[in-house]
Amino acid sequence: MLKNFFTKMSKDIGVDLGTSNTLFYVSGKGIIVNEPSVVAINTRIDQILSVGDDARRMLGKTPPHILAIKPLRHGVISDFEITEKMMKYFIDKIHKESFSMFFRPRIIIGVPLDITEVERKAVEDVALSAGAKEVYLIEQPMASAIGVRLPIQEANGNMIVELGGGKTEIAVISLGGIVASKSLKIAGEKLDNDIIDYVREKYNLFLGEKTAENVKIKIANVLQIESKTQKMKIRGRNLLTGLPKEIVLKSEEVREAIKKSIDIIISAIKDVVENTPPELVSDLYQRGMVLSGGGANILGLDKMIYEATQIPVIIADDSLTTVIRGVGIVVEDFDSLKEVLLPPTFENSYKK
Ligand SMILES: Nc1ncnc2c1ncn2[C@@H]1O[C@H](COP(=O)(O)OP(=O)(O)OP(=O)(O)O)[C@@H](O)[C@H]1O
Ligand SMILES: [Mg+2]
Repeated sequence: MLKNFFTKMSKDIGVDLGTSNTLFYVSGKGIIVNEPSVVAINTRIDQILSVGDDARRMLGKTPPHILAIKPLRHGVISDFEITEKMMKYFIDKIHKESFSMFFRPRIIIGVPLDITEVERKAVEDVALSAGAKEVYLIEQPMASAIGVRLPIQEANGNMIVELGGGKTEIAVISLGGIVASKSLKIAGEKLDNDIIDYVREKYNLFLGEKTAENVKIKIANVLQIESKTQKMKIRGRNLLTGLPKEIVLKSEEVREAIKKSIDIIISAIKDVVENTPPELVSDLYQRGMVLSGGGANILGLDKMIYEATQIPVIIADDSLTTVIRGVGIVVEDFDSLKEVLLPPTFENSYKK
């Protein structure tokens, strides 16, 4: 009876700690937090001003004493203290919004492939100091595959390409394990920077990151699909005069700007297919691969991958939430899915 009561009170939490966006899943409730991974700090009084959406609005617009910080780089914690504050802020928000204090939860967090022991420990420590009772880690492409309901535990090739903000991760999964994979530091943010560089060189125009991201989302088109050519008016600072300047950018120009990065992503996908055992490759030709993460929606990318690999490409529905949906499924069905989790780091396995 008492045990039942405590089980009800203790909500487990899943987290997708992304370079661009952080999402929280609470057991029995679903996705509760979905906000940018940004924290704004007032350095004069060393205090947090805002977190998430509110902090993101400040990016590129802050006076010198306010810093808008993105505490993750390429999916890895680069500022421990700020990540910890961000996690605590979101957990407090969940407590407030669900009008309940739950006991120290079990937290499952998605982490990049190829994460080092030190980086893993940092994620575990952040969760423990934010109030977790136990922390478990899951590789994000694995979570994403579970999120789109690929039958990862079967003896079948399941392929996922997760194109996020800070990294692109490609994995082939069979029998609950990753058989072939590759992780690249080239993803959404790099594409934004490519657009910034291109516009600076061609037009002597300095664009802000948010404008570049908007250009990518609205008019990027990686294949030459003429009927889909679009234009967009953009404003930045003229590097010669220092004054505001407006130009019209075409999707062909955006394609040229991001071509190098897109080519690297495509050849990494080919590499992974080439390194996959033949029996599994034949499954992939039949079942296709799933493209997920925010970058899955770049126009023409699915067709381009198909042309390069001959493997059908399926764009995940609601591609920005596949990782958290997968982590959520593990949160709800911990016992039957715990084999897909990573073991705790050496030091933290001692504490438990
Ligand atoms: N419709 C769209 N078209 C192209 N890019 C998009 C679109 N929507 C979002 N993005 C890009 O997707 C990226 C964010 O994706 P996502 O939330 O999956 O990344 P993340 O999980 O935070 O990062 P990571 O997994 O790399 O640590 C951003 O770079 C954003 O600009
Ligand atoms: Mg991600």
